[in-house]
Amino acid sequence: MSERVLITGGAGFVGQHLSRELAQAGYLVRIADNFDPQVHGEEAGMKNAGRNGDEMNHATRAVEWMRGDIRNPEFLKRALAGAHAVVHLAAVVGVGQSMYQYDRYVDHNLRGTAELLQAILKENQKPRGRIRKIVLAGSMSIYGEGLGQCSRCDKIVQARRQMEQLQRQMWEPQCPRCQAELKPVATPEDKKPEPASVYAFTKYGQEQLCELFAASYGIASISLRFFNIYGPGQSLRNPYTGVAANFAARLLRGQPPLIFEDGRQQRDLISVHDIARAARQALARAEQPGARVYNLASGQTVSMGELAQRLARALDSEIEPQITGQYRAGDIRHCIADISRARAELQFQPTVNLQDGLRELADWLRREEYEGRLQTRCPLPQPIAELNAWGLTLSVSGRTN
Ligand SMILES: NC(=O)c1ccc[n+]([C@@H]2O[C@H](COP(=O)([O-])OP(=O)(O)OC[C@H]3O[C@@H](n4cnc5c(N)ncnc54)[C@H](O)[C@@H]3O)[C@@H](O)[C@H]2O)c1
Repeated sequence: MSERVLITGGAGFVGQHLSRELAQAGYLVRIADNFDPQVHGEEAGMKNAGRNGDEMNHATRAVEWMRGDIRNPEFLKRALAGAHAVVHLAAVVGVGQSMYQYDRYVDHNLRGTAELLQAILKENQKPRGRIRKIVLAGSMSIYGEGLGQCSRCDKIVQARRQMEQLQRQMWEPQCPRCQAELKPVATPEDKKPEPASVYAFTKYGQEQLCELFAASYGIASISLRFFNIYGPGQSLRNPYTGVAANFAARLLRGQPPLIFEDGRQQRDLISVHDIARAARQALARAEQPGARVYNLASGQTVSMGELAQRLARALDSEIEPQITGQYRAGDIRHCIADISRARAELQFQPTVNLQDGLRELADWLRREEYEGRLQTRCPLPQPIAELNAWGLTLSVSGRTN
């Protein structure tokens, strides 16, 4: 018998790829999503589910859709009926935005997760209740700064940045012992979490709630700590998340990508195809009760400045990025993943290199543009003005407000 999997937030970027991946592998997939207008636009509906239009509808014919909010217990009761496993992706996503929307982020991400676990408990109390696995979309953001190696004393330490140094535009984290600059090194799962934003705090909370639940009720909980994901289907509407889509949306409008600090901050980008495959593998392996966490990243790093330039090349644009020289509250300098645990235990193997992945993203964007979807899908983002208004950016002369 096929396993029925409920994917919360399944209409989103990761969800559309994962639902296709699981349906093709023979799972019965049910999606529960509230079609958040920030991600899908005001007019979003079940008819045009997902952002890939026809492509999406075709690919997910075998998928059952339910529109509703995970904070609603009645909706969850229907969504969970007959499920064997849950992949929990639903969340509001945006580091900068979370810093002035505490209530919204805690409500969707933490209360939403609590309601989900409560509803799983109720479903499992039914005579035929059988939900034994939860796979959670975790996040690298929970680490805060990644690990760094001191260029002078050679020690590997938890990187941190002090406000005074950021005010002087000294962007690199310094060694707490000798104040020399740190070189970013791969961060493993056992690094102590140090969430630097409300979003990160809620992602860590989601993980802990699922771990507690797994320990109490003998089910398997796997948290996949995604690093920066990119690929076709990424929301171009949502200016608060998705660095590659954000840069690309500006380039396609003839505007320079805006980069905070000096553009040399490094990230570990991973293609959404590798994420979908890894999540399927994790679901298949989640047999043992108890909690596990895994970093999911490519292991390849790129600076934000270089990413903007490579995207411009892929889109045949000559626009150079604009380096703002500002610090944005909640941002970290570097975080690079150690993916050895996922390699060993999930047989995870990233397959898409950045060059090919950016080319695929650019091709998808051109198609969207050709088919006239780009303008309606990406109205002008104004997140920097909002951050400035809340005093959440720091320029060399102090807070901008
Ligand atoms: N994309 C990334 O780079 C990245 C990195 C780390 C972690 N993650 C995590 O992966 C998950 C999926 O991210 P994504 O990029 O696909 O985001 P997304 O915004 O494209 O998808 C999230 C989906 O959740 C839905 N949603 C939000 N609140 C909901 C609620 N209360 N009830 C029902 N549905 C709700 C939205 O409508 C949306 O379809 C999120 O949990 C996110 O925190 C993503």
